[in-house]
Amino acid sequence: MPVERQREPIKFAYWVPNVSGGLVISSIEQRTSWEIDYNRKLAQIAERSGFDYALSQIRFTAGYGADNQHEPLTFSQALLASTERLKLIVALLPGPWHPAVAAKQIATINNIYGARVAVNIVSGWFRGEFTAIGEPWLDHDERYRRSEEFIRSLRGIWTEESFTFNGDFYRFRNYSLKPKPIDPQPEIFQGGSSRAARDMASRVSDWYFTNGNTPEEIKKQVDDIQAKARENGHSVKVGVNAFAIARDTEAEAKAVLDEIIAKAIPEAVHGFAHEVKNAGKASPEGEGNWAKSSFQDLVQYNDGFRSNLIGTPQQIAERILALKEAGADLILLGFLHFQEEVEFFGREVIPLVRKLEAAQPVAVAAE
Ligand SMILES: Cc1cc2nc3c(=O)[nH]c(=O)nc-3n(C[C@H](O)[C@H](O)[C@H](O)COP(=O)(O)O)c2cc1C
Repeated sequence: MPVERQREPIKFAYWVPNVSGGLVISSIEQRTSWEIDYNRKLAQIAERSGFDYALSQIRFTAGYGADNQHEPLTFSQALLASTERLKLIVALLPGPWHPAVAAKQIATINNIYGARVAVNIVSGWFRGEFTAIGEPWLDHDERYRRSEEFIRSLRGIWTEESFTFNGDFYRFRNYSLKPKPIDPQPEIFQGGSSRAARDMASRVSDWYFTNGNTPEEIKKQVDDIQAKARENGHSVKVGVNAFAIARDTEAEAKAVLDEIIAKAIPEAVHGFAHEVKNAGKASPEGEGNWAKSSFQDLVQYNDGFRSNLIGTPQQIAERILALKEAGADLILLGFLHFQEEVEFFGREVIPLVRKLEAAQPVAVAAE
């Protein structure tokens, strides 16, 4: 008998502004703040507005205007204490973090806050940052090999009674973590789009986060990862970055984008471009997340304009559905004026997305 299956509603996350300077490298006014009081209120608005997750990023230094950077694990804990449902995704950088320390910290936070913490394993793109803190800078694919061991270690520590692991980067012998995380287990996200990143996602990550892009380009990545994941007997979900500019008219939204670009800070954008393109070129295929990014794209760190969530709420909702059709399970959002726009997005866009999802044809699968 065929059974009807409706895909899960698409999830929404926002970038926690734990780093100063806003989410675009531009002198346009950004009514946002990296300070804790602003962020507490933002997190409360977000969970009331239908957001599922908030992502705190990790930066030790910044070469592009983000002068202050709060540590994401500590910062996320403060946000968990101020919210009830929102899940916090904490970026962890293998190298500075050891998996034994990270697994223990996350297990404790998971126990305290009712399993509302997840992690985003990032592999590093900024050589100057590693040099500044005295961390060796590994080759591109070595960074991913380390990240994969890091993820396998986290999962092993969290789920096995007595964990033994003989890796090239990490070793454990009959290690027994107590207390273990309570269910649902902390989800493991990862950021990055290179061949090595995709292969890692198809083997070990729960979620693959990628830079903003068109539905066509996202579909290519998704098809690639999902085919490999099936071969590996692994299941992985996909999160896509986007910078949202939702306004009552399309003209207003486009005018905001034009102003962001017109007021871009060229030295900072070029500095960022130099670092990220070098990091990508160092991969065996010579590409990486930002290989095809133009100057305009790079004004938003993770190519968020490319997803084109810029227009009226109806246009944005339709484009989100197109991204979902392409294989996205979650949209990660940045905004110019966070508190105001997260609220507007929750009020005007998310209900339209839910309406379109409800009207979508139901997939039929053989039982
Ligand atoms: C959604 C998302 C979030 C990321 N967050 C961080 C971060 O907080 N800190 C960081 O150093 N890198 C972060 N990255 C960068 C990635 O970990 C990775 O270094 C970069 O995308 C280059 O990967 P690639 O060479 O596989 O393309 C993020 C990437 C994505 C897509």
